Amino acid sequence: KVVNVVLSGGVGSRLWPLSRKSRPKQYLPIFEGQSLFEKTVVRNSEVCNQVMVVGGVDNYKLSREILKNTGTSDYIELVEAAPRNTAAAIAFAALSLPEDAIMLVTPSDHLIGDQEIYNDSLTQAVNMAKNGFLVTFGLIPSKPETGFGYIEHDGNNVLGFREKPELEQAQAYLDQGNFLWNSGMFCFAAGTYLSELGKYEPEVLKASKLAVENADNGFLPLDLSMKIPSISVDYAVMERSDKIKVVPSSFSWSDMGSFEALFDYYPVGSKERIGENLVLGSDKHVEFVGVEDIVLVETKDAILVLNRSNAQDVKKVYERLEKEN
Ligand code: GDD
Ligand code: MG
Repeated sequence: KVVNVVLSGGVGSRLWPLSRKSRPKQYLPIFEGQSLFEKTVVRNSEVCNQVMVVGGVDNYKLSREILKNTGTSDYIELVEAAPRNTAAAIAFAALSLPEDAIMLVTPSDHLIGDQEIYNDSLTQAVNMAKNGFLVTFGLIPSKPETGFGYIEHDGNNVLGFREKPELEQAQAYLDQGNFLWNSGMFCFAAGTYLSELGKYEPEVLKASKLAVENADNGFLPLDLSMKIPSISVDYAVMERSDKIKVVPSSFSWSDMGSFEALFDYYPVGSKERIGENLVLGSDKHVEFVGVEDIVLVETKDAILVLNRSNAQDVKKVYERLEKEN
């Protein structure tokens, strides 16, 4: 059995005001009428035969609705009382499955193309996962992006994993040539993950186990959850384990994390593009004079005007508003 463990934790603060706590970005139906969450579930259903969603109390109903609409009958929900980061989120899933279940862990906010190539990468990963490895998917980097993990490799063998390097370091990796971007998707047997997590972050494993044992129908308890150290799977396990393998992959992939990525997604000629600018969410007539690289976003109660090169800074706006409210 191959289980698609879908992580649906983040709010997508860099896509404010499109994404809100009540409607995180992965549920926005802005990709030809589909959401990234829906696309994720459908894409993975070709290789996986069960879905397990690990998400928060604020969004499990949104996930459930989409799973119903896509006709996904075999699914399990795990609902976090509070986000405890990805090492724990994946542990919750692994602890709820048989040891030999193969997990394909995927974020729910990526856009991926080339289904045939994708399926082929997954099949290779599943085979390695059955042999006790923690498998990552590596993509050829196109710029020294500091928001990703980097995998130094020789074929399927991983020589090193480095999460979110500084810009200079990222550039050195690109120059060196044998580094791939970590896609943020992983494939392993539940038991392999738990034993590696126990080796490197025993506290995360112990506290996650206690939380899962006291869950009520998939709903994790808040008090026990708050005792779990917050660390990402990349820092907790991937940077440290010697059981990592990589499937060098060539499917098209983008992390739809910011308006810059959306800018690139909508081609010139699409109705969202007005000259060298992008308009999202507005049903008004919009004109731009003498400006380019502008993103204009309108929702019922907010307007954002942004220069695309400042796309990462939207997170700061979100955080300030969170504090004020
Ligand atoms: N359920 C749950 N609970 N999901 C979570 C939590 C949590 O506490 N925290 C994060 N997630 C989900 C996010 O919603 C996202 O789908 C996924 O886990 C990864 O978290 P991000 O916060 O988006 O990670 P990242 O983008 O900084 O880095 C990861 O992805 C990159 C590729 O996009 C790393 O794996 C990098 O190495 C990788 O390059
Ligand atoms: Mg991400």
